[in-house]
Amino acid sequence: MPRKIPHKTSEMSLQILFCTTECAPFSKVGGLADVSQALPAALKALGAEVTVITPLYGAINRNDLPKPLKQIAQGTVSLGAYRERSFSVLAALVSGITIWFVDSNEYFARNGIYEDEQGFAFWDNGERYIFFQKVILEMVRQHEFQILHVNDHHTSLLPVYLKKERHTTPPKTVLTIHNIGYQGSYSPDILNITGLGWADFYPGGPLEFHGQTNFLKGGILYADRVTTVSPGYAGELLASQEISFGLDGVLRSLDTPLTGILNGVDYRIWSPESDDIIPANYSAEDLAGKQVNRKKLLKRTGLPALPDHAVIGIISRLVDSKGFELLIPLEEELMELPLQWVILGSGEQRFEDMFRGWSQRYPKKVAYHQGYDAALSHLIEAGADMFLMPSKYEACGLNQIYSLRYGTIPIVRQTGGLGDTVQAWNGECGTGFNFQFYSSFALLQAINQALRVFRDKQAWQTLMRNAMAQDFSWEKSARAYLDIYRDLMK
Ligand code: ADP
Ligand code: GLC
Repeated sequence: MPRKIPHKTSEMSLQILFCTTECAPFSKVGGLADVSQALPAALKALGAEVTVITPLYGAINRNDLPKPLKQIAQGTVSLGAYRERSFSVLAALVSGITIWFVDSNEYFARNGIYEDEQGFAFWDNGERYIFFQKVILEMVRQHEFQILHVNDHHTSLLPVYLKKERHTTPPKTVLTIHNIGYQGSYSPDILNITGLGWADFYPGGPLEFHGQTNFLKGGILYADRVTTVSPGYAGELLASQEISFGLDGVLRSLDTPLTGILNGVDYRIWSPESDDIIPANYSAEDLAGKQVNRKKLLKRTGLPALPDHAVIGIISRLVDSKGFELLIPLEEELMELPLQWVILGSGEQRFEDMFRGWSQRYPKKVAYHQGYDAALSHLIEAGADMFLMPSKYEACGLNQIYSLRYGTIPIVRQTGGLGDTVQAWNGECGTGFNFQFYSSFALLQAINQALRVFRDKQAWQTLMRNAMAQDFSWEKSARAYLDIYRDLMK
């Protein structure tokens, strides 16, 4: 075997390969992209050497990529007995972090990350990410890493592959679960292109779940450590068949228990003091700018300024888990309240139709912007008074944490990371409002409570200042990951 290329010069630091299918600012569907941008930087600040590997999607404009962009590898991987697919890997340095972009005409040079423009999942998603993982394996064979940090089911076969490759000294693997609702469940035939064979596919076997493949289950069972993105979600995953989508037993069977490490916030990007996307900067000491942003937000979304109304924001993928079905029976009650809604997001038709319908029937009260818009998301955080996340389940959730820093008071259902980050207002202490039961009535009560406090300007200011004083920076969480990596090296 040829000698591996030591990837970085420093002998002392841990060499980590962070494997992800989304990485902001290049590709983003949800919070995984934010984490993939911020966690490697936080680890580096603590002395680790992190390389991120991610697909070069068609929507990424190559001219926007940092220069120099250097091709560092090319080759082919096999997908099944008679199919070879070519790849190349381009490296760029982004704020001190090396990013390896995996380029493939066949699998990534198309618009959309997991879905086409109509919102349909690509038919070959399973194959696309098996390909991605095989390229990562090639890179791992050529370079020296001590830790492979993989995320969600798209990269969770890597621990399986590495444990089966007995001829090398494989890196240790950490699997982080960001959303157990997606598990890489495909028709068993897909195993033919993995090259893993059928030994692990039998009823109850590591790669089998209800007759389908389950790549996340394989990752959970083969990874050296499994983590998730909040302590609250970790507890729920272990306790609830519903929240774990049936994998609770598998998680409970692990020798080393599932660890919940709360995501942090990259305050370089999400701080009202320095955010260069918003019209006016502000801070807890000087809140004047928030009112400027509020006016701009109303103007930008075509809403009139209505006296004594609060502006409530939503920025979300509009999918079942986010809990917007709770709003469906509440239309009449909500529209009688002194509230104006600014909603940004796309996803399931039923939710898009609901919000579009509201904005057509109540044009002074509701603005709905369908689609993805990073600039508008910053303006909503800065300009709204409140922020709503009624999730059915939420591994961590980032927007409620961003909202805290922008003094935009979160109203959340107490689940997963939402419960870990928002403390209920009790008249003096607290940073937001929450409700426990997954019901429309409980949600309405929380909104009414928020509106009652909003009328008391003094109390609201205290609440805003409490919220803005919260610190969820990445350092603490990055240290927790480092502890796990070091533990694995013993
Ligand atoms: P999830 O990963 O489940 O979607 P998170 O709260 O962890 O939920 O992260 C969502 C991230 O995606 C946040 O950074 C949020 O601002 C962003 N986001 C979601 N929808 C949109 C949208 N329509 N436009 C801009 N940003 C969005
Ligand atoms: C997932 C979860 C979300 C979490 C994000 C980043 O998409 O749905 O709650 O914040 O991953 O970890």
